[in-house]
Amino acid sequence: MTLWKGRIATGMAEAVAAFTVSLPFDRELALDDLTGSRAHVKGLGKVGILSDEDVAVLLRALDQVEDELTGGTFAYAAGDEDVHTAVERRVTEIAGDTGARLHTGRSRNDQVATDLRLWCRRTLVVVASEVLALQDTLARRAEDSSGTYLPGYTHLQRAQPVLLAHHLLAHGWALARDVDRLLTTVDRLNVSPLGAGALAGSSLPLDPDFVAAELGFHARFENSLDAVGDRDFVAEALFDLALLGVHLSRMGEELVLWSTEEFGFCTLDDAYATGSSMLPQKKNPDVAELARGKTGRLIGDLTSVLITLKGLPLAYNRDLQEDKEPLFDAVTQVTLALRAMRGVYDTVAWNEERMRAAADGPMTAAIDLAEMLVERGLPFRQAHALVGGLVRDSLERHVPLVELVAAHPDLGEAAVELLEPGVAVTRRMSPGGAGPGPVAEAMERFARRLEVDQARVAHWLPSVAATAQPEAPPG
Ligand code: ARG
Repeated sequence: MTLWKGRIATGMAEAVAAFTVSLPFDRELALDDLTGSRAHVKGLGKVGILSDEDVAVLLRALDQVEDELTGGTFAYAAGDEDVHTAVERRVTEIAGDTGARLHTGRSRNDQVATDLRLWCRRTLVVVASEVLALQDTLARRAEDSSGTYLPGYTHLQRAQPVLLAHHLLAHGWALARDVDRLLTTVDRLNVSPLGAGALAGSSLPLDPDFVAAELGFHARFENSLDAVGDRDFVAEALFDLALLGVHLSRMGEELVLWSTEEFGFCTLDDAYATGSSMLPQKKNPDVAELARGKTGRLIGDLTSVLITLKGLPLAYNRDLQEDKEPLFDAVTQVTLALRAMRGVYDTVAWNEERMRAAADGPMTAAIDLAEMLVERGLPFRQAHALVGGLVRDSLERHVPLVELVAAHPDLGEAAVELLEPGVAVTRRMSPGGAGPGPVAEAMERFARRLEVDQARVAHWLPSVAATAQPEAPPG
């Protein structure tokens, strides 16, 4: 069905239909479209544009469309340009002339903006809950890591020993910012564009505040032009997802390194690793690599929407139809990555001996020697130079650092103890640091943060339940 029988005399040329159709991807919005239409119908009823009977007929028709959609019996027609057209066509088939009243006071411009906000609201909340599940796994692995330590790196050079728990929670806290970003994005996008019409509102006595409340939006739009032309929320969502992807990518890169024979810090579970079609001995970290690789695509999704938006005059332009595929793609890919990476972290075996051996320096305790001298009153810069000189000496003359430390008048036996395996990590005692004291506290703080964020997600769950989950990706 076309929606404009009056002004345009002929049907659409085939090449135009093929080029402009969005149904193949915007069917994803079908249930949100029904949600928006129900509120719109009730709004028209409230202000007397539709009779109570018309409202009832339309709501029943919308329910039937929902049954058909969820039951898999909804028949899309050849001329359905987009999901909004398809739903309106079907409602009109079911409800006849009453169905022809559905689009009163509404344009696909405010309709699609509404649908997309509803879609973002429910899917971003689900993404946030998936992030929380991964954080939960990291917290559990941190708790179970009982004193295991490894070198912390700067410039990918061994720097200081850190507890494995501290390292895992570093990723956990980055993910906490992702959850926060997703939820504040949801909060900001939770504004209704419905009632803006094509661009300027309506001569009919619409009640956009009522409709906004019906949809669980915390406010209605302030400006009709902005309401239909704005896709900031799509760009924001894509930024949140891209940065989340960047975090997953860094985690993936680390697992790739750690699972090499060169590092040997971890062994991936067979269920979360892949083999080689040719080389019989191979066990590859493909999940970690794709967590890294797909992030390029997420950044592309964000970039593509920003570029679409940058040249657009107010208000709606058909270019805006290009917002959907990148958005849907990013949500799907991030969700898949989160689930797979959670499985990797759930099952990976840490090679604790390799980690410890790499961290037990004794060079990684050099700063502890310098700080011991500081505690004895030496200015730090002099302490740094003294210990640096011993390290150079040790390397150049091939004398173990321990011997030089033992023989040095300012250091001696007490200093040698700092170089014993496992000692240095216990000395990272300052708040937020990598040693046992602060890490024990940090694990509690992290657990509390998870609880708070779980409650924040739960707050939004009713709006997720209002519409079914997004379709499972093919395959
Ligand atoms: N499929 C369109 C989109 O996604 C719906 C809005 C169409 N509006 C219009 N004036 N042609 O943006």
